Amino acid sequence: MSGRSRKAVGLYIHLPFCASRCAYCTFVTSTELALLPRTVAALCRELELLGRRSGRPLVALYLGGGTPSLVPEGLLGQVFQVLAHHFPLLPDAEVTLEANPDDVTQERADAWSRLGVNRVSVGVQAFCDPVLAMLNRRHTAVQAREAVELLQSAGFSVSVDLMLGLPGMSASDLQATVSEVLRLRPGHVSVYLLEMDKPHALGRLAARRPDLFPDADAAARQYLSAGRALVGAGYRHYEVSNFALPGRLARHNMRYWRRAPVLSAGPAAHGHSGRRRWAAPDELPAYLEAVESGRLPRAWSRGLDPREVLKESVMLGLRLARGVSEELVEACATEVPGFRDRLDDFRALGLDRRSGARVRLTPRGWLVSNELFAAIW
Ligand SMILES: C[S@@+](CC[C@H](N)C(=O)[O-])C[C@H]1O[C@@H](n2cnc3c(N)ncnc32)[C@H](O)[C@@H]1O
Ligand code: SF4
Repeated sequence: MSGRSRKAVGLYIHLPFCASRCAYCTFVTSTELALLPRTVAALCRELELLGRRSGRPLVALYLGGGTPSLVPEGLLGQVFQVLAHHFPLLPDAEVTLEANPDDVTQERADAWSRLGVNRVSVGVQAFCDPVLAMLNRRHTAVQAREAVELLQSAGFSVSVDLMLGLPGMSASDLQATVSEVLRLRPGHVSVYLLEMDKPHALGRLAARRPDLFPDADAAARQYLSAGRALVGAGYRHYEVSNFALPGRLARHNMRYWRRAPVLSAGPAAHGHSGRRRWAAPDELPAYLEAVESGRLPRAWSRGLDPREVLKESVMLGLRLARGVSEELVEACATEVPGFRDRLDDFRALGLDRRSGARVRLTPRGWLVSNELFAAIW
């Protein structure tokens, strides 16, 4: 069977390099930029190995990181050349590249466009300089605004990442941030509450200076208020952390939430086929060693049994505004003792809605959804 006639898939590529580390970040990324050319060469090799096994047309490609926007055009070009050979992009494929505002220039935007990138996800975090400085970001609010405007004028579909629950972010900072987003009107907005579960510099700061951080209730209020403003301006709150104008849903991310296959390449990249999940090693030396010896880099790979598939479908489905079918909820409640009781608690508190034989969480329900998911897993 030829590659083109096979079923299209998604592909996530992790480019694990950053110019410096932000104070909240726990992603697998390195500031040893000298290793970039060797890592890209290994990535190309990995794509060839993967292509021989499962080369398929791509309906969605996501270059994430790390900071893919700092990878020079020549190196990115090498990746796209291998892709063209083994994973041809469908004509309407979504091709996303993550960018930091300080990397965005007209020259780079033109280069990304030439390569076939049609969507850029920009890490703005906040339109407020003192907060950005505390996060150890490399850009100002003005640079972030100019980056978004430049990308929009260049014809990209733009997504903006914001973070809430940040230290030193006043009510007026939040309002200024949301107003600027509404003025720019990107097609897609991701809104993340600061996560503190893995160690990072802000976590250490919070241990010393808890007074600088909003408490959980205040952070929840920020999330609900930002969400109301976005929805009021025509965005659809289609997933816990994601808002989109009509037709601008993140197609790559939707594949994860709907459990559609997503292949993966690059250090620390995770993929799944529906029945199997796998991850490449986090550590660059282990990744390089595997690929340079001609092996697919795998830290682990494991099959999922039908019970796990069911639980995953419910947990991922409840992250989405469309929710899950009553039928799936019933199947999960039969398999997992305790799930029905916890869902009943949510209902009693008005944290879920049932209509059209589907179960959906409200935005308040999403805020505490970990308690529900803990009962499933
Ligand atoms: C892969 S990361 C970064 C992409 C790009 N390098 C950048 O910094 O803009 C994607 C997004 O995750 C969010 N993020 C990273 N660490 C986080 C944390 N500890 N809590 C909440 N959100 C986080 C940030 O909004 C970030 O833009
Ligand atoms: S937030 Fe982005 S730029 Fe900052 S360290 Fe993490 S991946 Fe790198």
